Amino acid sequence: MGAIIYLLILALLKDYGHGEPQEGIAVYVFLGLLTSGATQQCLDIDECNTDGVCGKRGICQNLIGSYWCECPAGFTNFGKNQNKCVELNCDQYETQPGQTLPGFDSFLSLLRNNCLVLNNSTLSGPTRPLPTGDVLLTLLVNTTDVLQLDLQSNGHRSSSEVTKLLKTIEISIRLIAPLLTENVTRIETNHTDVEILVRRDKTPPKGPVSLTNENTQLDTTWETVIGDYQNYQGFAFVVLLSYKNLDSLKDTTSRQNLQLMSSALTVSVSNSNTTNLPQLINLTFNHLQSSDVDPTCVYWSDENGPGVWSELGCTSVMSNSNQTVCSCSHLSTFALLKGIHQKKGTGQLSLVMWGGVFVALTCVVLSLITTLWCRFVSRKRRGGNRLKQDVQLHRK
Ligand SMILES: *[C@@H]1O[C@H](CO)[C@@H](O)[C@H](O)[C@H]1NC(C)=O
Ligand SMILES: *[C@@H]1O[C@H](CO)[C@@H](O)[C@H](O)[C@H]1NC(C)=O
Ligand SMILES: *[C@@H]1O[C@H](CO)[C@@H](O)[C@H](O)[C@H]1NC(C)=O
Ligand SMILES: *[C@@H]1O[C@H](CO)[C@@H](O)[C@H](O)[C@H]1NC(C)=O
Ligand SMILES: *[C@@H]1O[C@H](CO)[C@@H](O)[C@H](O)[C@H]1NC(C)=O
Ligand SMILES: *[C@@H]1O[C@H](CO)[C@@H](O)[C@H](O)[C@H]1NC(C)=O
Ligand SMILES: *[C@@H]1O[C@H](CO)[C@@H](O)[C@H](O)[C@H]1NC(C)=O
Ligand SMILES: *[C@@H]1O[C@H](CO)[C@@H](O)[C@H](O)[C@H]1NC(C)=O
Repeated sequence: MGAIIYLLILALLKDYGHGEPQEGIAVYVFLGLLTSGATQQCLDIDECNTDGVCGKRGICQNLIGSYWCECPAGFTNFGKNQNKCVELNCDQYETQPGQTLPGFDSFLSLLRNNCLVLNNSTLSGPTRPLPTGDVLLTLLVNTTDVLQLDLQSNGHRSSSEVTKLLKTIEISIRLIAPLLTENVTRIETNHTDVEILVRRDKTPPKGPVSLTNENTQLDTTWETVIGDYQNYQGFAFVVLLSYKNLDSLKDTTSRQNLQLMSSALTVSVSNSNTTNLPQLINLTFNHLQSSDVDPTCVYWSDENGPGVWSELGCTSVMSNSNQTVCSCSHLSTFALLKGIHQKKGTGQLSLVMWGGVFVALTCVVLSLITTLWCRFVSRKRRGGNRLKQDVQLHRK
């Protein structure tokens, strides 16, 4: 009833004013009616009195029974009016000269344009149509497909290009996920499988969360996904993206015989501080082929140099011939590698191996002793002769 009256007053004022609804006046008139005529009084809770309800820079506008956040330019709440305003960085979607990954230039410039729309669209609420996350996600998947096809036909790419690819995917997801409208979005193609879970609860969700696809399972908690509750922006997302054909994603710099035993996958969450998680995440990989080789859990590391598979912060907690479970203390792109560790041997085999090592070492030591002894003896003789010659020379 009250809402109808309010809307009527709003409509009336809109007719008399210059097109712009004068909400402030409507509110006063409405409140006046309420306090004078109504038998019951409803108290509007001013949500804007709660600290940081719109983020550090957002401006909170109180409405009857509601509120919305006005984000200054350079900030956005992705069109969700009651979410906190977060800072945008559209410059990270700038294409770089000399970039050679196919399809990436056009994809990045599209992201940048969408980012710029968000950057500007905030002062008076979402006036312009917002970019849709689903369309952008489809394009992201298409781009990674094209890239994997290219890798299959042209052999592998340099480590720095792989790093560039993974970085781009990470920053794309951070823009796309908040724009998705569904709770669960999944796209699967011949090369890529991506699933995104979004929650928009008022209070941060808690408890376990897992995502599964054909080749992998991710187990974590909403606490890990969100990180610091102070930074909760009104939504949380978790992404599992697996690349089915990145077998040639090798680091070209170091060890020989590195082969992926699983598909590679990127894990991304709304929390952006994920280099040292307080709680481990678990990844269950299905092996591409059943194998007795001990796989190594690795992630793509670009901290020191162009990029390598690194074991730091990831351990294998369970492994059989079909599956391996990795526990990791950070987020990134993960895979199983074979070729770092020795083959699993039976007890007897390793006994034989150690026997061989012992015999070989004994031989080395013996030959060393013999060589040294021979040198010692021969030097003593020659040294003695030389001394005599010297003495003879001096006498002359
Ligand atoms: C986003 O908006 C802010 C504030 O108007 C502006 O300073 C910044 O340059 C914009 N970003 C880009 C990439 O245009
Ligand atoms: C964003 O707004 C600024 C002024 O606030 C304007 O100069 C600029 O052209 C706008 N950018 C876009 C992409 O609309
Ligand atoms: C990606 O999109 C382009 C243009 O929309 C299309 O021609 C191409 O076939 C797509 N590639 C894949 C692998 O889906
Ligand atoms: C996916 O793979 C199947 C079987 O290999 C093939 O028939 C189909 O054309 C592929 N689809 C695309 C979009 O490449
Ligand atoms: C999405 O999740 C929220 C809880 O976070 C739930 O209330 C809502 O019904 C879900 N929507 C759909 C379409 O499943
Ligand atoms: C991951 O696995 C370890 C040991 O297997 C377990 O203690 C931990 O609770 C698991 N974490 C999650 C998020 O499921
Ligand atoms: C990142 O997370 C770690 C561990 O949870 C915490 O100690 C650190 O202060 C956080 N860093 C920032 C910049 O929030
Ligand atoms: C591995 O998979 C094969 C075939 O699916 C199955 O027969 C075997 O029991 C599995 N091994 C283990 C250790 O689960």
